[in-house]
Amino acid sequence: MIIAVDGPAASGKGTIARALAAHYGLPHLDTGLLYRAVAWRVLQDGGDPESESDALAACSFEDAVLSNPALKGEETGRVASIVSAHPLVRAALIKRQKSFAQQPGGAVLDGRDIGTVIAPEADAKLFVTATPQTRARRRHDEMQKAGSDGSYDKVLSDIRARDRRDMARESAPLAQAADAHLLDTTYLSIDAAVQRAIALVDERTGAKPQG
Ligand code: C5P
Repeated sequence: MIIAVDGPAASGKGTIARALAAHYGLPHLDTGLLYRAVAWRVLQDGGDPESESDALAACSFEDAVLSNPALKGEETGRVASIVSAHPLVRAALIKRQKSFAQQPGGAVLDGRDIGTVIAPEADAKLFVTATPQTRARRRHDEMQKAGSDGSYDKVLSDIRARDRRDMARESAPLAQAADAHLLDTTYLSIDAAVQRAIALVDERTGAKPQG
């Protein structure tokens, strides 16, 4: 079974995808990490993220980079949304994502274009969203817990800028697949959102509820 989970930054899609993978016993790929690895490599190499050739050169990152905690930072996310708009970068990362999706037994992938480009054949597709204010508040709370002192307004404007870039790019923009279920997490706790996601996947795939 292939499950595609797409949505904007800080919508809860990563948490939901990990919970679905644990629930159904499937391997999980956070595809945003691949774009973050490219971003991190470009910055390390002193390249220009706006330059398609600099970003393409950074696609040959070593797998060990994927476990670098620096990839999770806000700046890496911002630069990831710049390098991810280059068609050659997307093309360089597509094979790895498609083979992960098509492995025997299935997989859960989360990102921006899983249901539309990477696995249009997915058995279940979720488009996870929440208002920009809710996403900014969640991200801001996380940052405060981690001891960082960025303002809520700055987080909100970064989220809006990232949404604009991800939705406006020509190559595989962030979009809800026609056959995806919309899961708005604005008024849901994490647990409620996960339960709703499991119910939607069960409904779509005919899986028997567990437990
Ligand atoms: O999901 P995450 O915030 O880690 O993604 C970082 C950036 O990578 C996104 O803002 C988006 O521009 C890009 N991305 C993408 N396609 C994906 C996953 C992430 O373009 N499938």
